Amino acid sequence: MALHSVCSEEDIPLGEKKAVKVDGEKILIFHLEDGFYATQNSCTHMAAPLSKGKVIDLERIQCPFHRARFDIRSGEVLDWANFPPGIQIFNFIRSEKALKTYKVTRQEGNLMVEV
Ligand code: FES
Repeated sequence: MALHSVCSEEDIPLGEKKAVKVDGEKILIFHLEDGFYATQNSCTHMAAPLSKGKVIDLERIQCPFHRARFDIRSGEVLDWANFPPGIQIFNFIRSEKALKTYKVTRQEGNLMVEV
């Protein structure tokens, strides 16, 4: 594990997100009310870029492909793929899987991610 500086706090306004690449890993940084959080950027369903998804209620990220929803702070699945109707028939090969999360710390206005 090593700390990597990824961007300035000011680069991510409240409710926004930013995709970064650290050590070959694609990571998505979020600015929520109580601070900054990071998850993997690829959806665990079929690898859609969550950076193109929607932050809901400052706590969930919705995948742009099949609308799986994940808790940003824990990475837990809240709703699995459910769009378009019928996508659930593939759930036996794509079962629910949480997002990997990363610790984000602030240092003099910069955001550091532990990878
Ligand atoms: S790729 Fe994200 S829900 Fe299917």
